Amino acid sequence: MKAFQVLSVLLLTAAAAEAQSFNLGRCPQPSVQEDFNIQKYMGTWYEVEKLPAMFEKGTCNQATYSLLADGTVSVRNAELLSDRTMNSVDGFAKVKNSSQPAILGVSFFKGAPDAPYWVLSTDYLSYAVVYSCSDYFGLVHIDFAWILSRTRALPEDLLSVLHDKLAAAGVNVNHLTVSNQTGCDVMRGAI
Ligand SMILES: *[C@@H]1O[C@H](CO)[C@@H](O)[C@H](O)[C@H]1NC(C)=O
Ligand SMILES: *[C@@H]1O[C@H](CO)[C@@H](O)[C@H](O)[C@H]1NC(C)=O
Repeated sequence: MKAFQVLSVLLLTAAAAEAQSFNLGRCPQPSVQEDFNIQKYMGTWYEVEKLPAMFEKGTCNQATYSLLADGTVSVRNAELLSDRTMNSVDGFAKVKNSSQPAILGVSFFKGAPDAPYWVLSTDYLSYAVVYSCSDYFGLVHIDFAWILSRTRALPEDLLSVLHDKLAAAGVNVNHLTVSNQTGCDVMRGAI
């Protein structure tokens, strides 16, 4: 391997060890929500559980999606930082292949490659299961997963069904962490 590749693999390994979502082999190709209706998916979703993502450090994580006239989705991710101030980041998502409407790409920085955003399952009204996976060198993959909810919590019996869906998609559900959605009142009306 060239020096650059060795360095990349080392960095990747360090990042992955912390993210705990480092896996050998290529990304799985899980099945996604059938007949995905993007309109019904719009609005605010709260993060209930996730596979560790280092770029999310706050509490009260939420995402608000709005469909624009050209069919792209504007994305606003917001969270509360430990000093009780709100942090938000705006991006865009779009369906890349209209025959796979539940598979989107999301990007937060102009020019940056978009990250995959696969809606594995949603009933639009209470829960959504989202998966993202990227291949590196055809050797390893790093995956992210989120259980989202229209409210800041989901009942345990539903969560356990959603864990089964994620496990079927190849996600190590033992690595899911519960997102802190308490003390979020200051977020209300601020987004
Ligand atoms: C879009 O998805 C369909 C169905 O999965 C596939 O056959 C087709 O090759 C895809 N088109 C592109 C441009 O990737
Ligand atoms: C969740 O966040 C609140 C407010 O920031 C904090 O008081 C509480 O201790 C946190 N809970 C956990 C389980 O970390």
